[in-house]
Amino acid sequence: MAGEDRSVKVKIQDVKMVFNTRKGEMVALNGVNLDIHNNEFVTVVGPSGCGKSTLLNIIAGLLKPTSGSVLCDGREVDGVGRERGVVFQQYALFPWLTVKKNVCFALEMRGLKGEEAEREALRYLRMVDLEKFADHYPKELSGGMKQRVAIARAYAAEPEILLMDEPFGALDAQTRAQLQTDLLNTWENQKKTCFFITHDVDEAIILGQRCVIMSARPGRIKRIVDIDIPYPRTQETRMAPEFNRLKNEIWGEVYKEYLEVRK
Ligand SMILES: Nc1ncnc2c1ncn2[C@@H]1O[C@H](COP(=O)(O)OP(=O)(O)O)[C@@H](O)[C@H]1O
Ligand SMILES: [Mg+2]
Repeated sequence: MAGEDRSVKVKIQDVKMVFNTRKGEMVALNGVNLDIHNNEFVTVVGPSGCGKSTLLNIIAGLLKPTSGSVLCDGREVDGVGRERGVVFQQYALFPWLTVKKNVCFALEMRGLKGEEAEREALRYLRMVDLEKFADHYPKELSGGMKQRVAIARAYAAEPEILLMDEPFGALDAQTRAQLQTDLLNTWENQKKTCFFITHDVDEAIILGQRCVIMSARPGRIKRIVDIDIPYPRTQETRMAPEFNRLKNEIWGEVYKEYLEVRK
């Protein structure tokens, strides 16, 4: 099982993020501190607008915090890096490349070339059940299929840290369940560190070792709940009494925040 090495992989230190908007300054995050351990799977839930994506983008190096910092393996994050792979809610594919070439792109970044890259691309596409669509273009695929290509491409880049922003949010229940299982397999076999945002409390419990609950206005970490359910987790895990206990607990906290936001 993953998770033996408890060293800190990502250290979020007193992060504050202020956006300048037409209505003035907007404090999106304030006083956010979190240690993500090596090989840990952390899930993040919280009401819409509480700063989840902002935090993920700061870890990814796509946004620079107003103050505070993020350390990755002890080095301050300054821009994007190969060790940190991102999957967004909306598929970000190159429309002018075929499905296979989209995945090859990530492999070429790792130094693979030609036939070897193509073979590997097909292997990753098989993982998301899209090998048959290798020569299609993104515009020929459904939204769910495009997202599966984006996931295959992220896995192909073999980052140490996977940053995922509601990656399965737009998918049907069956595809989502399959991709959850694949992600857990990838995590366990390849010893990745995962930071996974979801609005689905079930998903947060199925996947994570810890669930971070964020509060809104400004976004802060409200609580961290340990998910003490052994792996491997499957869809049957939903039937466990412990699952339901955690679901009530986390949902209760998130719901209080929803009510706050609506005030
Ligand atoms: N580039 C930006 N400029 C101004 N405000 C932003 C920007 N990005 C996000 N925000 C605001 O910051 C808050 C947090 O946004 P976000 O991180 O996307 O929340 P979440 O992902 O939890 O829904 C929201 O109120 C959003 O409108
Ligand atoms: Mg978001």
